[in-house]
Amino acid sequence: MASTSIQNLKAHVGETVTLHAWLTDKSGKGKIQFLKLRDGSGFVQATVFKTDVPEDVFELAKRLTQEQAVTVTGEVRADDRAPGGVELSVRDLSPISENHGEYPITPKEHGIEFLMDHRHVWLRHRRPWAIMRVRDSVQRAIVDFFHGEGFIRFDAPFFTPNAAEGTTELFEIDLFGEDKAYLSQTGQLHAEAGAFAFGKVYTFGPTFRAEKSKTRRHLLEFWMIEPEVVPSNHAENMNLQERMVSFIVRRVLEECRAELDLLGRDVSKLAGAAEGNYPRITYTEALEIVRKHIEDRDLPPNVQEDVQPVEWGDDLGAPHETILGHHFDRPVIIERYPAAIKAFYMQPDPEDPRVALCDDMIAPDGYGEIIGGSERIHDYDLLKSRIEHEGLPLEAFEWYLDLRRTGSMPHAGYGMGLERVIAWITGIDHIREAIPFPRMLTRMRP
Ligand code: 4AD
Ligand code: MG
Repeated sequence: MASTSIQNLKAHVGETVTLHAWLTDKSGKGKIQFLKLRDGSGFVQATVFKTDVPEDVFELAKRLTQEQAVTVTGEVRADDRAPGGVELSVRDLSPISENHGEYPITPKEHGIEFLMDHRHVWLRHRRPWAIMRVRDSVQRAIVDFFHGEGFIRFDAPFFTPNAAEGTTELFEIDLFGEDKAYLSQTGQLHAEAGAFAFGKVYTFGPTFRAEKSKTRRHLLEFWMIEPEVVPSNHAENMNLQERMVSFIVRRVLEECRAELDLLGRDVSKLAGAAEGNYPRITYTEALEIVRKHIEDRDLPPNVQEDVQPVEWGDDLGAPHETILGHHFDRPVIIERYPAAIKAFYMQPDPEDPRVALCDDMIAPDGYGEIIGGSERIHDYDLLKSRIEHEGLPLEAFEWYLDLRRTGSMPHAGYGMGLERVIAWITGIDHIREAIPFPRMLTRMRP
């Protein structure tokens, strides 16, 4: 008999089907056994009645151990109370293999470090399963969105010769003692070269940051999406960000309701993000909102009581972003930060050169910055002087300056951290669960 998958069972109500699956849990006594099964596509309960099956099948059902691989044949029954709307009445059962030793993740509560140590098998369980399916949905939404907007996907190298976002966050690679390279902390500069060749491009790949911060928002290796558009400007850049994020949220709400329910996500909190119309405020206005919240003692629960306001010129910290995320019911765009605290390539605001034509998008509920972007300096002399002023090695940036030597035009782009977006959409409290195998200061295994 041809096998089917759990996600397709609903189309087979009343029929007898065969599944290849794993046992996640088991209960029952006397004349009945309840087998909780999973097959990768979903989860279902199978019931074995002693009177329905040969003696040896019932004995086998009693003997099966957690995560044992089995072939199950049974009749599909509709059941509104069951999570997927169906159950299976078992007619036949056979093991595909025998288990060696105990499966480590038992149905009892385990600590997060234990689960992370066993990530290679923890991925089989409901919660990681749901989060990774949302990750897949988000990744496809991104590809579909940019394809629909006329972009081409353009891959930046992972080994790069220079720093773009500050030299302290670079992982250095020794090139056989003869030279040095770095693991890429952004694909942006190469994406700019792509944009001058193709007009609209985006990169989508792993990014590396040697940040020693042990926060719930930081990974050493994360995935970034970096669109770059020529010609473009700051205002169009913010419009693109809003269109993309609202598209992603709508798609996940359409595709992943069951996964979000399983995770206990309050989806009403994503309604504003799905709709669009994200508020846009300046950095200066943001400082005012933060100051007011601190003054009124109107602080979200995860912000410390002794939080201080931000002085103009200083960067927003995680608690300030949390306050701002709390103030609005959807992502908020904060624009025109002081140029001095931002990257060298950002176009100064012609009306106030102290600030840059840049923006960060902050997610609600304390998830912090999900996007950083800007209009780029397109003037050759200005860019060259900014590189020199930052003390960056000019020779490493000659190729980047070439993009302004010939055919320069105003252009803009941004980077979105994939895991930050997934953490926010799924409502999980730490970014480490948003990627299959997280890489952090305290975690390189499995
Ligand atoms: O704001 P960032 O540093 O911007 C850039 O790298 C620009 N070159 C992007 C561009 O304009 N093309 O990083 C962009 C985003 C952040 O908003 C955040 O979502 C994510 O990348 N991010 C991290 N995610 C996880 N772990 C980390 N250590 C991250 N650092 C940044
Ligand atoms: Mg940033």
